[in-house]
Amino acid sequence: MSSSAEPNPGADPSRRGFLTNYPPFRYWRPEVIDRFSAPRPLNLYLHTPYCIQRCEYCFYKVTTLGENRKAEIDRYVAALCREIGHVAQQYHLNEQPIKTIYFGGGTPTVLSKDNMNRIWEALQKNFHFDNPEITVEAEPVTLTEGKAAHLAELGVNRISMGIQSFKDEIVAKTGRVDTEQHARKAIALAKATGAVVNLDLMSGLAGETDDTWAYTVDRALESDVHSLTVYKTEVYTNSAYFTNIRKNTLVLPTDQDEVRFTAHAIQCFENSGYLPVNFFTFTKGGGFMQQHSTSSWRGGETYGFGVSAFGLWRGHTLQNTAEVGRYVEMVEAGKVPLARGYRLTAREQMTRDISLGMKLLRFDRKEFKKRYGFDVLLFCKPTVDALVAGGLMEVTDEALSLTRQGILWGDYVGHCLTDALEASDS
Ligand SMILES: C[S@@+](CC[C@H](N)C(=O)[O-])C[C@H]1O[C@@H](n2cnc3c(N)ncnc32)[C@H](O)[C@@H]1O
Ligand code: SF4
Repeated sequence: MSSSAEPNPGADPSRRGFLTNYPPFRYWRPEVIDRFSAPRPLNLYLHTPYCIQRCEYCFYKVTTLGENRKAEIDRYVAALCREIGHVAQQYHLNEQPIKTIYFGGGTPTVLSKDNMNRIWEALQKNFHFDNPEITVEAEPVTLTEGKAAHLAELGVNRISMGIQSFKDEIVAKTGRVDTEQHARKAIALAKATGAVVNLDLMSGLAGETDDTWAYTVDRALESDVHSLTVYKTEVYTNSAYFTNIRKNTLVLPTDQDEVRFTAHAIQCFENSGYLPVNFFTFTKGGGFMQQHSTSSWRGGETYGFGVSAFGLWRGHTLQNTAEVGRYVEMVEAGKVPLARGYRLTAREQMTRDISLGMKLLRFDRKEFKKRYGFDVLLFCKPTVDALVAGGLMEVTDEALSLTRQGILWGDYVGHCLTDALEASDS
């Protein structure tokens, strides 16, 4: 591309050639108008910070249900509904078609039927649903028959259940009150709603051995759900696990143990027809892919409602205040409860696309080139070569893909690519 007067560096300066625009008009296309004016899809996240216990491993900021919690939860839900109305109006979110709605926590299934109805009404009043995927996270012991029926009535089409382990002695050590019996009953109830059912398992819980893990994997497969997720156990400073490790009263399975457990799970899943759709989720035949996180990892817009909820909207990451009391006070005072955010530069958006996009196992080089104008390898070829040599990644003209080994090491490839891209910026 060039202006009408060809530049000629080194020659005498010229005053000819007024730069009107870049790129020049001859590159502008009518079909872009349709794409530009199409409404941008939006994902919604709604946070419930309450749980019936605080699990020993958990890093989420949650409040446990004690005596007299009803009034507090009612007040929180009222604030959540008010935030939905206020933000939707102030930021014109009702102009964006809603593709996914995710009730996360904490444990959203601790909410009463009345409170779920209130949130639901606020959503329906303020948004334009476009046949959304509607997910609710559930803990087995909280998924009663009445609750499952209510979720079905609301149109919830995805239930993600925290199982962690099917071995009672492992679960008991986490502080949860669930048992294998609870889990089985809740899974049956969830499946009966007709929703897609996902089970969360954790691979590095206290006391886990090859035998207990094999038992969990077998029971998970027997449950015949649509989707199985295996999380590596992360130890954060706000968890009881962290404190107990510090006090030398707890030793967890090692990284190598967890890799072995995960490898075992992947093999068993594959033998039963469950294929990886990201590096920690395996679904029947590779279908039933969860759209909410997938969209976010591909750069889709998400608005997060509720205490500590976060999202990505109009090129900014945004997060609400993380204290329940402060959150409620801000909303009741008529304020948007946002606490912090970050405006991504074009380069950071690119790095985000790659590092989070790699979670989906395959990163489309052509799509990237179309979006950013150059090949992804331009900034990270030596790193990619090393990952390929290490057997973690495969590269074709079309895509960068994780190998089985790459899947086992989770976000490692994403971290390496992020580091390479950041280093190339300095
Ligand atoms: C919000 S919880 C799911 C719903 C419900 N609260 C429950 O626990 O059954 C989301 C999931 O995060 C995972 N998780 C929590 N703490 C974790 C940690 N420290 N490391 C890895 N995964 C963790 C668990 O598998 C849990 O099911
Ligand atoms: S794992 Fe689930 S139930 Fe346990 S504390 Fe965390 S969010 Fe609550």
